[in-house]
Amino acid sequence: MIVDVLGRRFRNLRVSLTAACNYACTYCVPDGKRLQAAAMELSSDEMVKAIRLLIESAGIEKLRITGGEPLLSPKFDEVLPRVMDLGLDDVSLTTNGQLLPRKAELIKASGLERINVSLDTLDADRFRAIARSGDLATVLQGIELMLDAGLRVKVNMVPIKTANVDQVLPMLEYCLDRRIELRFIELMNMGYLKHDNAYTRDFFGMEEILELIGSSYEYARTDAPFDSTSVRYEIPGRGVFGIIANESEPFCASCTRLRLSSNGYLYGCLSNTARHDIKDVLAMPDDLARKELQGRLLNALGDKQTASFTGETTVMKFIGG
Ligand code: 5AD
Repeated sequence: MIVDVLGRRFRNLRVSLTAACNYACTYCVPDGKRLQAAAMELSSDEMVKAIRLLIESAGIEKLRITGGEPLLSPKFDEVLPRVMDLGLDDVSLTTNGQLLPRKAELIKASGLERINVSLDTLDADRFRAIARSGDLATVLQGIELMLDAGLRVKVNMVPIKTANVDQVLPMLEYCLDRRIELRFIELMNMGYLKHDNAYTRDFFGMEEILELIGSSYEYARTDAPFDSTSVRYEIPGRGVFGIIANESEPFCASCTRLRLSSNGYLYGCLSNTARHDIKDVLAMPDDLARKELQGRLLNALGDKQTASFTGETTVMKFIGG
């Protein structure tokens, strides 16, 4: 097992199935152009092999399938059931929910137990203004289907000062009513935002979120797993919400995440453009591949930051947050 001076190792793997997305969210892409699949994306076989090897070589215990938008990938239907067979206790999926109604049966049949849906507003017009595509009712229908199927659902919301801050309370009420854990993600200084004043204009941080929630609810801080990115709060008798406070309470020092892009690069840190190609490794026999991966993993672990998230132009879209 590879461990760094802060005692960090890779425990969580996030795999981007495709860089393509059916949304073009204002905070992700500046020009409204939808994201395309990367050239030379890994095949389903390569993807599953990469995940298996990383479980064996890096000690991965948790897997999240992301994108782009993972449900958009033709590989999704094949990869999901196959990764469910890799012996992991914890597999989950992050999706924008637009294709959830269409994939609900497949997801149920796979045995997946939890899912995170990204949703920034409950107002249909505002939804289209932020995502520049898609349909709110379809996402809400998808969420209901997942709840009915018994999956644990979390919703991710990015509060944006000029776009959806008035939705914080309605979103919280919607989620509390359904026993969904809502997680507010502080806007991250990523992608084009790194060099755009929209970041400072739109940032709505933990303190502001808590103040707003405090105007309507009593809450108290509650526990979260040691390597969790979210600070969790309980509203007695109602449920739990979280804040992923990249900026206000950085969690770099306990970060255990490793990312694999859809075109076969490992990323040790979202805040670092360094990446490590493993496509060649995927062509090797297992023994050799495991040996070869050690060096790449060591380099990827060395890419982590020590204290805080400084931001990078690395784009969330293709490594899936
Ligand atoms: N800051 C914070 N969250 C972001 N996401 C995408 N880009 C950013 C950003 N710059 C969120 C998406 C999704 C999750 C994977 O990351 O809304 O919920």
